[in-house]
Amino acid sequence: MYYSKPIKIQPVKTQAFTDQKPGTSGLRKKVTTFKQTDYLQNFVQSIFNCLPKLRGSTLILGGDGRFYNREAIQIILRMAAVNGVAKVILGQGGIFSTPAVSHLIRKHKALGGIILSASHNPGGMDGDFGIKYNISNGGPAPEEFTNAVFEESKKIKEYNIAGVKGIPLDLIGSYTLERMQIEIIDSVDDYAELMSQLFDFDKISKLLKSPDFSICFDAMYAVTGPYAKKILEQMLGAEEGSVIRGESLPNFGGGHPDPNLVHAKQLVARMYDTNETGSTPNFGAASDGDGDRNMIMGDYFFVTPSDSLAVIAANAKLIPAYKDGIKGIGRSMPTSQASDKVAKKLGIPCYETPTGWKFFGNLLDDKRITMCGEESFGTGSDHVREKDGLWAVLAWLNILAEREQSVEDILRQHWSEYGRNYYTRHDYENIPSESANQLIDNLQSNLDSLAGRVFNNRTVTIADNFTYHDPVDDSISENQGIRIIFDDDARIIFRLSGTGTGGATLRLYIERYVEDIKQHDLETQEALYDLIETAELLANIIGFTGRDEPTVIT
Ligand code: G1P
Ligand code: ZN
Repeated sequence: MYYSKPIKIQPVKTQAFTDQKPGTSGLRKKVTTFKQTDYLQNFVQSIFNCLPKLRGSTLILGGDGRFYNREAIQIILRMAAVNGVAKVILGQGGIFSTPAVSHLIRKHKALGGIILSASHNPGGMDGDFGIKYNISNGGPAPEEFTNAVFEESKKIKEYNIAGVKGIPLDLIGSYTLERMQIEIIDSVDDYAELMSQLFDFDKISKLLKSPDFSICFDAMYAVTGPYAKKILEQMLGAEEGSVIRGESLPNFGGGHPDPNLVHAKQLVARMYDTNETGSTPNFGAASDGDGDRNMIMGDYFFVTPSDSLAVIAANAKLIPAYKDGIKGIGRSMPTSQASDKVAKKLGIPCYETPTGWKFFGNLLDDKRITMCGEESFGTGSDHVREKDGLWAVLAWLNILAEREQSVEDILRQHWSEYGRNYYTRHDYENIPSESANQLIDNLQSNLDSLAGRVFNNRTVTIADNFTYHDPVDDSISENQGIRIIFDDDARIIFRLSGTGTGGATLRLYIERYVEDIKQHDLETQEALYDLIETAELLANIIGFTGRDEPTVIT
């Protein structure tokens, strides 16, 4: 047992920072910014000051293991101990995936949790770091709370911190710091147990052990390595080595832990056999820095995240946890409308929310939806209040085990039944904020004149800046993205990223619905070529940014 020596606490005087405004998912900044004297401390104290029920509470704490994770954990523990927290449940080594924290908050009925992650942003000394607070339903704190934290951070004058040395983060057990209890637990066990309750592990295991079926899971040297090895290899019996890049490294091996066709190169090489080994796995997947995103692939086949949500929802009854059907589907506004078609057929509602997982929380809590997703490689359900990468992987494996078809066959059959929503996102990264804002302002000022105009034979039916009315708490979120919708349901959407740490990122989302099965074989960029052209012209992307092509296409 480790006992700290009790000491008398004097608040530490501090100067407020002006830039601690949380974005789409918590506060994300360069590691160098977070390492400034008192920077993290100010933000953590601001969170604590906004939690009236903090005294005597239990908090869950952990992060994706990126550079500065361990130091930040020690600081937060020392602060929690003298801010009245009764107990912190901490992942071994300071590690928890984001969905694991969400689960533990719910399981232990904790007041909330602090997650240290900058998700898919690069890590390492010169990379990004992040911190976010999740509330008692397990989900990201709503805007009302994050705004209050920001206001607090601008006027903070002092913070409380215990002056003791560190806690041994790697040893499972109970510790005491001041009067606060710290319970260090295995990072994976509870989450793995939850997954085994949702899915048919016997069936999946049979599939994974069959000689004709192999998988490749790319953990991208990020947090899901230990989770995937335990669940896929040890519990379900996938061949050892099915999990690649499975060690969690503080700099993610120098990569960009974002599961898409650009950054998960190793996985893509295996699924398309670019190294000409003569064999490809039947199923491929990758997850991001903190384990909430996922990419799904078949051999020589990529499943768009929007389609993935639609397929999982359409096949939900094959999964034990959803065998009685789902109540509704949620999708973010820029996500393709593929799942709307499924909802329609199932006779359940489909909700359109702004970008960011926090908007699904109310719908899930109110039991209006069971599954939800975003085009940005995020899929999840009511089992937690975060998107969940491994959940999506297991959902697919469960469906594959039941249907005994290939990933591609399942998709083709899905399109033939519901039609195909061709979909792409073009990102223009790191453009000067001023140019990005001018581009959006210009689009905004032209919106009123767009309805009724014809572009490449399509007539604009709606041109607006998306406003969300939350049906549960009646809150209103404005300016959630400019959308131009055409008479054939094609859509062009523009918005600026709220998660970046350098300059601005313009995201352009393009979608077109094609019912005719004879046209389901087009290459995506070609299928959307005329809409992409219209979008580039309408926004005058070259004029405002000087860029004649995007930096990332997904
Ligand atoms: C991005 C994604 C969004 C996701 C968020 C957190 O936010 O677009 O769907 O919820 O990351 O993973 P953005 O940078 O676009 O604000
Ligand atoms: Zn993430």
